Amino acid sequence: MTRHATIRKAVFPVAGLGTRFLPATKAQPKEMLPLVDKPIIQYGVEEALASGVDNIILVTGRGKNAIEDHFDVNIELETFLEARGKTAQLEEIRKISNLINFSYVRQGEPLGLGHAVLVTQGLIGHEPFAVILGDDVIDANPPALRQMIAVYEELQGPVIAVERVPTEEVSAYGILDAEPIRPGVHRIVDLVEKPAVAEAPSNLAIIGRYVLTPDIFPELEATQSDRTGEIQLTNGLRSLLQKRPLYALEIDGVRHDTGNKLGFLRAVVYFALRRPDLAGPFREYLSSIDLENKLKLR
Ligand code: UTP
Repeated sequence: MTRHATIRKAVFPVAGLGTRFLPATKAQPKEMLPLVDKPIIQYGVEEALASGVDNIILVTGRGKNAIEDHFDVNIELETFLEARGKTAQLEEIRKISNLINFSYVRQGEPLGLGHAVLVTQGLIGHEPFAVILGDDVIDANPPALRQMIAVYEELQGPVIAVERVPTEEVSAYGILDAEPIRPGVHRIVDLVEKPAVAEAPSNLAIIGRYVLTPDIFPELEATQSDRTGEIQLTNGLRSLLQKRPLYALEIDGVRHDTGNKLGFLRAVVYFALRRPDLAGPFREYLSSIDLENKLKLR
């Protein structure tokens, strides 16, 4: 595995309430919903690891204990699997707790993504770091974060992951005004949170990956809450932009927004079709569905 000394830490803000997935998220975190048999958050953690990060900082809140347990050792389960000779499952379970170093910091109240990043300041210190929003699961080779770290190392400034979205969807995202440096890499001119279609400067939408430098913290400290009472990371980045260049990278890969129901369903189908043990029978099932007569499912 390649180690990138520049970015050693990745922040996963997981303190949001996951209201779009109620009632499933009433008593369990949305990050633990599985895509086939792996919780959503684990895809992001594995991406960070494969990108050379060796410290994961999870920003948690009430009701998120299942995430901590998931990445912790489960001695009872290991003993049980060992006694039953279930070696493959045992390996899988051990792999998760051996993955990486985990730290947890509580957000207390969900006061926005910018605030979630701000509470990691003590754990990050004075080094550049990554922020990964686990909702965005990105299948890419090299991994999405690794692509971003390469651009960070080249340009020596914060890098935000972007994706071109259909114009009618711009109001759901932070959108960039940007100048191209080369295909896929941009210098940011401005950032606009959820613009109206007519006012969007482009269709370059911010997705859930950031490589940031520690000078974001004073900007977030000075950022006012918005109408909804949240401190937006986008607004902190906007003030940082007055002081240094920021860059954007279009990720080469397939992104699924698992934070909404349709995106989640698509991701389940996508990852099931990529699984050697399931792809055959699942493909057969999917092609047996009569989409014209929706009720005729076998
Ligand atoms: P979302 O906007 O997706 O919010 O947050 P959410 O609460 O998780 O989900 P819905 O919209 O209610 O269904 C984007 C990311 O920022 C984190 C969330 O956990 C998610 O990963 N977040 C958001 C925090 O950690 N703290 C916050 O105060 C807000």
